[in-house]
Amino acid sequence: GEPRWSQSTEVLVVGSGIAGLMTALHASELGYRVTIVTKGEIDDGSTRWAQGGIVAVLGSHDSPAAHADDTLVAGAGLCDPAAVDVLTTEGPSRVLELVRLGARFDRDPDGRWALTREGGHHARRIIHAGGDATGAELQRAAQRAVLRDPSITVVTHALALDLLTDAAGHAAGVTVHVAGTGARAGVGAVLARATVLATGGVGQVFDATTNPPVATGDGLALALRAGAVATDVEFLQFHPTVLALDGADPRQQGLVTEAVRGEGAHLVDHDGRRFMPGVHELAELAPRDVVAKAVLRTMVAADTDHVFLDARHLGSRVLEARFPTVTALCRQAGLDPADQLIPVAPKAHHHSGGVRTDLWGRTSIPGLYAVGEVACTGVHGANRLASNSLLEALVYAGRIAAHLANGLPPQREPASSGAVAWAVDPAVRTDLQHAMSHGAGVARSAASLSTAARRIAHQSRTRSSGREAWETTNLITVAAALVRAAQLRRETRGCHWREDFDAPDEAWRGHLTATLRTDGTL
Ligand code: SIN
Repeated sequence: GEPRWSQSTEVLVVGSGIAGLMTALHASELGYRVTIVTKGEIDDGSTRWAQGGIVAVLGSHDSPAAHADDTLVAGAGLCDPAAVDVLTTEGPSRVLELVRLGARFDRDPDGRWALTREGGHHARRIIHAGGDATGAELQRAAQRAVLRDPSITVVTHALALDLLTDAAGHAAGVTVHVAGTGARAGVGAVLARATVLATGGVGQVFDATTNPPVATGDGLALALRAGAVATDVEFLQFHPTVLALDGADPRQQGLVTEAVRGEGAHLVDHDGRRFMPGVHELAELAPRDVVAKAVLRTMVAADTDHVFLDARHLGSRVLEARFPTVTALCRQAGLDPADQLIPVAPKAHHHSGGVRTDLWGRTSIPGLYAVGEVACTGVHGANRLASNSLLEALVYAGRIAAHLANGLPPQREPASSGAVAWAVDPAVRTDLQHAMSHGAGVARSAASLSTAARRIAHQSRTRSSGREAWETTNLITVAAALVRAAQLRRETRGCHWREDFDAPDEAWRGHLTATLRTDGTL
């Protein structure tokens, strides 16, 4: 319906994970008035769940070029080399900026930052905080700075609905739904001279994910409805070691950080045998897609829903000190990782694709930027390298700010809101998630994908209204785009594994773009 209220700002940031918070801080430093709208509480996003760390190439044993090489290899031929160059060369100074903001990273006994390894990295270059609570520290430091900044207004419980554009198609802000009963409750319009999507990922499209419940692809769906170009949407990374325990929260599953393998833990099958050494030279630390595939094959061969991570030899002292989050997660489930094997399985983790941006975070819609997991900057290609995503958020938030420093365009008069003309029944959500996990999960085929596509088409014919329905509509929009792209890409590349086309095909070394037709179909 028509917005009931309206307010204006200069820079509007949608989302409050590290990408949104850093963009807001930079914009404020430039002297702009900033508004952050965020769907739940300020720290409900994925950032604070990040465990392993963030890439920081700081020592003389390593170089941005070596980091770029590992990133390009993991990306399986689809990274944009210019975007990777920006990431790896600008990354170190952005990490130091975070330190100046007050983020505290773990140190070795000699006082230097402790560096660990994760899959696909040939050097120890990942710094961490609180052992395995890196994201929480980043969120804490950035959030504290934002909440102290008088130029930044934070509106919580505000679900962004649709992009407002002027007659020429220039972004003018967004419509939002604010929960509650205040003067600014219900559907309103936040007008802005620059609009930045920082809404995070899409994990809730699947029935098992490391992502928090808010990760419903809102920004990607909003952008698609507005006619923005999205790319690489089929590339959804499954984290190979997610806790597989009965009775866990069905909405979000516990991650067992790759850094546990970085510190020496092994993957073993039901007979206690390691299966990674024969698969890849880096064994348990092969790129994530390679590990996820090997885990799935081992599960299928044994007809079970998990394999095991053996971290017993690390000992309880190391586990407790270095991996307090993982150790606590296991113990809550009645399992002691110092004595017992940890059951794990691959689950939805990170979306490499998203709203296509250039090196300045600009989308195909003038005045609309995207940053963090919602964006596809080109740094991840077909498979993201571990611990590159927090870094991407920092670097590209800085890039957007560098572009905003040239001045903001005047406020545009909204002509259309491309508004959600329909919304699906939230009751289809569980069925949608099952359809996606069965049809478009770790292993895909023409048959599995067309079954998923049929179920999604069926679900999208239901109708409802309200907040839950809008969110479910976003899930359906993202699911349809992902399945369509996965059907088209008849090859296996990076984290897109087609069992019926089980190898990369040089003819497919390119990008698929997704845009929505005006009737809402892809
Ligand atoms: C992890 O800690 O294993 C996750 C790291 C990442 O996804 O980059």
